[in-house]
Amino acid sequence: MKIDSATFIISNTDVSRCPKERVPEYAFIGRSNVGKSSLINMLTNHKKLAKTSGKPGKTQLINHFKINDNWFLVDLPGYGYASVSKTKRKDFQRFIKDYFLQREQLVNTFVLVDSRHAPQKIDLEFMEFLGENGVPFSIIFTKADKLGSSTLNKNITKYKKELLKTWESVPMNFTTSSESGMGKDEVLNFIHQTNEL
Ligand code: GTP
Ligand code: MG
Repeated sequence: MKIDSATFIISNTDVSRCPKERVPEYAFIGRSNVGKSSLINMLTNHKKLAKTSGKPGKTQLINHFKINDNWFLVDLPGYGYASVSKTKRKDFQRFIKDYFLQREQLVNTFVLVDSRHAPQKIDLEFMEFLGENGVPFSIIFTKADKLGSSTLNKNITKYKKELLKTWESVPMNFTTSSESGMGKDEVLNFIHQTNEL
């Protein structure tokens, strides 16, 4: 799929104030600093569409971007960022959960995990939360450029093994690098195929 236009629409913390338009929607979630905003920029060919930072906790709101005038990409805050105050962390949790429980036009959620790290409890628990609530998701292994191919493959194989302890089959998954563009066509093709317009 070719991205002809990508426009920021609105940021907020309240799912009831998200755009009402019933167009297909795709959300990006994962721990802080995993590369959600960078991936959105890579997919849309915009260096600065979604704000990125080396410091975790950059994205703090639900951000809607309209793509090709007919579907939404959503950049979300990271979960599990320890330095955010306790009250704020709870707040993240509530509005993030509300978003997933209430957003009926959500077609797929991409759960991003850092390809360098062993499976983390918080990510596995988040996937379980989505599964229990019937929210479709796939997994994206990010920052693949930071590893050699054999370590990358080893880590992904280990991750899939861990997933099979919970899931009957390994969820749909992608491996990406926002630096090299790896995985871009695969993710965009998946969106195109599932985007019933
Ligand atoms: P929060 O909004 O804070 O939750 O973070 P985020 O998940 O949106 O991460 P963001 O895209 O801001 O990226 C975090 C840091 O990782 C930045 O310094 C990025 O440049 C870097 N980064 C993201 N993706 C990649 C990648 O594929 N390769 C490399 N080498 N660095 C990356
Ligand atoms: Mg971000």
